[in-house]
Amino acid sequence: MRIRLEHVTHAYAGSAESAAVQVLDDVSLDIASGDFAVLMGASGSGKSTLLNLIGAVDKPTSGSMLLDDVDTSILDESRLTMLRRKSIGYIFQFFNLIPTLNVFENVAFPLSLANAPRGEVKSRVAEVLDEVGLGSRATHFPNELSGGEMQRVAIARAVVHRPPLILADEPTGNLDSKNGEMILDLIRGIHRTHRPTIVMATHSERAASYGDYVVEVADGKVMRGSGAGSRESEKSGSAPTPDPRFPTPASK
Ligand SMILES: Nc1ncnc2c1ncn2[C@@H]1O[C@H](COP(=O)(O)OP(=O)(O)OP(=O)(O)O)[C@@H](O)[C@H]1O
Ligand SMILES: [Mg+2]
Repeated sequence: MRIRLEHVTHAYAGSAESAAVQVLDDVSLDIASGDFAVLMGASGSGKSTLLNLIGAVDKPTSGSMLLDDVDTSILDESRLTMLRRKSIGYIFQFFNLIPTLNVFENVAFPLSLANAPRGEVKSRVAEVLDEVGLGSRATHFPNELSGGEMQRVAIARAVVHRPPLILADEPTGNLDSKNGEMILDLIRGIHRTHRPTIVMATHSERAASYGDYVVEVADGKVMRGSGAGSRESEKSGSAPTPDPRFPTPASK
């Protein structure tokens, strides 16, 4: 899914007690379909705000926010809900699992919302739980899992409907380095296998190195760094096999 921001400005409205907060100021950005983009910037610079605008959780104060040429800033709530359910997977720093649902039910949640047939729900959930290595934990509850496992469940939930867009807000921010690495490997594996567009906010240089390029967020502006897709393949010594259905960064 292609992401385009055109002259996007975003301010959080103030109240009687608080002044309005201007976060993004005339931001334009184009992220091609299948890119793995990384947002970096100081705390409070607007990374989560940007993810919320891209994910149609919030609307820009002005400017256009386009997903595959659809301007989400003018869609009504029911269309936005459909778009979010069908096309977007969100991964959060604090996992956001539902504590009263077991692993299977948490992962099945987006499919249940979309009224998917039971048989399909069962097979899809089993497939993604295997993908994140938790096939044997389906009946466990979140409080019986480690942090790394909870994030793996959250990733399974984010990808169970095979969304063309995955947004991750500091997905390793609450994990130790070993679990963080495992989560990043998992996200990279999903990117290579299914080629969704991924936008990930992080404070970690290590995490950022997993993306194709970095978008710096500072002073209300964004600046796209040079492509680093080659950097990753140089490091690992093996470039991912190109999928002919999706253009590689070099051919776009
Ligand atoms: N609902 C809100 N109302 C008012 N101001 C807000 C609101 N949400 C965020 N802000 C402000 O907007 C600015 C950007 O916040 P945002 O959460 O996008 O930053 P961030 O880059 O994600 O930071 P961090 O790295 O700490 O997560 C901050 O100054 C924050 O205080
Ligand atoms: Mg944030």
